[in-house]
Amino acid sequence: MKSDAESKTRSRSLSPAEPLYPPVPPIAREPLRIGGIEVPSRFFLAPLAGYTSLAFRLAVRSLGGLGLATTDLVNARSLIEKRRRALELAETSDADKPLSIQIYGQVAAEMEQAARYVAANGATIVDINMGCPVRKVVRIGGGSALMNEADRATELVSAVVRAAGVPVTVKMRLGWDEESLTAPALARAFEQIGVAAVIIHGRTRAQGFSGKVNRDGIKAVVDAVDAMPIVANGDVRSIADAASMMEYTGCSAVSIGRGALANPFFFRQLDHWTRTGEPGPDPTFDERLDFMSIHFHGLLERRGEHFACLQFRKILKWYYHFTRMPKRVYLELINLRSSAVFDQAVAQVRAEGPSSPLPGHFEAHVPVPSGPIEAW
Ligand SMILES: Cc1cc2nc3c(=O)[nH]c(=O)nc-3n(C[C@H](O)[C@H](O)[C@H](O)COP(=O)(O)O)c2cc1C
Repeated sequence: MKSDAESKTRSRSLSPAEPLYPPVPPIAREPLRIGGIEVPSRFFLAPLAGYTSLAFRLAVRSLGGLGLATTDLVNARSLIEKRRRALELAETSDADKPLSIQIYGQVAAEMEQAARYVAANGATIVDINMGCPVRKVVRIGGGSALMNEADRATELVSAVVRAAGVPVTVKMRLGWDEESLTAPALARAFEQIGVAAVIIHGRTRAQGFSGKVNRDGIKAVVDAVDAMPIVANGDVRSIADAASMMEYTGCSAVSIGRGALANPFFFRQLDHWTRTGEPGPDPTFDERLDFMSIHFHGLLERRGEHFACLQFRKILKWYYHFTRMPKRVYLELINLRSSAVFDQAVAQVRAEGPSSPLPGHFEAHVPVPSGPIEAW
């Protein structure tokens, strides 16, 4: 069901002859291999630190349509020191495939060791983070800082490619700032040393998360390489966004972060659209509650009650909008402390039904760092 606002916009802006959804770019229907690994669709889940946990990934996978998921970024040194937090971030399972485990660091020997570790512990692909803008990461020469040092970046990536034993990808931005758009040259160099794909967030480090994604910048990366798949990323929140990203940039696949948090059914809808030209029915009330439950119980099973409750509180507001649960239940869940209370609330909400019409999608407000970028 579409929200009122959405259907009004549609009826105003579309004549009856116009199709409701954009045509499917032919490439979207073709199979895709990344370093010999066949991925089931060309729509990927981007890493979102603090959100893209194993529990969330499994819940999204249960809906279908997802091509490849990536873990939150994991510090290479912490991984090889077997620190609990790093091991939790890199945790996966048989159902969580195909999976990229994303590592970051600036010391080649540590990155090699971390790559070998994750490849031996469930990574289908090792992804190197070269896009993270936050100070903690760039201060030590990791994340997007590497984009300023082509030789060091290439040596580091090459060392990981030699060590990993599985395909290696790199996720980066367009460059450090508008004056140094190094992504096309780096992508070309990475292709030559055996990188299997590059995922490109169409912003510079200086942009942080503000401003519009620069699709010309992504296209320049696509044009710079011979055959290596380029995965486009940034601000894809609708089928129209995905279609135009593919058409405009000529990318091989699209990676979706915040749009998938806003609407975890997005991959299922993209898959349906790829096959039929339209996204299929919106998720029902029961499907929405099931998703919320699978997500919570996944957290509970793997990380225990305390963590599951804290994590759930962080995202409760989205579920409140997405399921239209009664406000009374939402207020009860704000300080969630036990799984029994959660299960009771779900049963109650299920019995009562939604308190208002279900939205077509829910707007996720994902906090991103803001203010002067030097201070991130
Ligand atoms: C809260 C948050 C956490 C993120 N964590 C990571 C990360 O761990 N690794 C990474 O490569 N990118 C990370 N990103 C960047 C996203 O993967 C993605 O490039 C960016 O959000 C743009 O895509 P989107 O508009 O589809 O969200 C993060 C972004 C956000 C908002």
